Amino acid sequence: MKIQKHETEKQLIKMLGLVILGVSVLTLTGCGKKSDESHDAAIAAGKMLAEKGRGSIPACVACHGANGEGLDAAGYPRLAGLNTAYIDKQLQDLARELPPPGVLIEKVSKDYSKTPRIYSDLTVFSPSVRHDAVMSPIAKQLSTTDIHNLAAYYGSLSFQAKPVAADYEVLERGQDLALRGKPEYGLPACVSCHAPDGEGFGAGFPPLAGQPAAYIVSQINKWQTGDRDNDNLSLMRAVADQLTDADKLNVAAYYANRSLTVKGK
Ligand code: HEC
Ligand code: HEC
Repeated sequence: MKIQKHETEKQLIKMLGLVILGVSVLTLTGCGKKSDESHDAAIAAGKMLAEKGRGSIPACVACHGANGEGLDAAGYPRLAGLNTAYIDKQLQDLARELPPPGVLIEKVSKDYSKTPRIYSDLTVFSPSVRHDAVMSPIAKQLSTTDIHNLAAYYGSLSFQAKPVAADYEVLERGQDLALRGKPEYGLPACVSCHAPDGEGFGAGFPPLAGQPAAYIVSQINKWQTGDRDNDNLSLMRAVADQLTDADKLNVAAYYANRSLTVKGK
């Protein structure tokens, strides 16, 4: 009798274990499906906005191409296959108001008792801004959800670069700058941040291959004038500041001449 009871208890525990396992498997797979579904829904909503626009928001396809390939002749950037978090950040930066002239200084209180190191109690605070007469007014009209959806959509698209022919000497000089930089001036090679074939790396380092040459030149110019000031640690500004007008044209032609295939997700 005693043994029997023991057996039933054991069976009960086994059954309970199976039930718990079953419930957790269901929950896990259910959750996976739900996040897939919300990602698909974001892509669908992003596609709709990109193709049709809404109210005073113009359709993105008008300038960035039917499949996000960009518009070479006008120097409008490609968006297809860019990193989702990169697109998200750029739209937020483009929408941000320009800070008033001068540097904003924020007082930060530090707890000196925790560490023997000496801190400065002033932190320079400068929000990322990127200003463009055409794109900023559009970005300002997008909600956080719109930005999320548009980034999901463009990030999911595949892309095939169409290399643009250029003069051999221009390409050679551009390649030298891209692959070698100017070590004698402490200028790093573009490939050290933008990846070996200019395909970009993660959310922080956008691709250069497949971008219109005119767009690459315009962005470097904007870093030099301060219209674009949104790169972490001013990594790109430090590079832009050392480029001559000829450098910009050569390296832009080199990257517009690269082939690149990005598979959609
Ligand atoms: C009238 C033309 C036009 C329309 C319409 C337009 N854009 Fe743009 N977009 C531009 C231009 C020009 C730039 C380059 C801005 C600069 O120089 O900083 C740009 C830049 C961008 C960038 C930055 C790309 C990068 O590589 O950093 C993103 C992202 C972007 N646009 C998204 C959108 C989305 C999403 C829409 C639709 C809601 C849209 N654009 C509609 C002209 C347009
Ligand atoms: C030390 C790292 C570093 C090096 C070296 C570097 N870049 Fe960049 N570059 C960046 C970062 C970081 C960004 C932008 C990030 C952002 O907006 O968040 C950027 C952005 C850019 C963009 C804008 C792309 C877009 O889609 O809007 C262009 C154009 C560019 N770089 C060109 C170059 C060229 C040309 C070289 C070589 C002469 C170069 N970069 C070397 C770090 C670097």
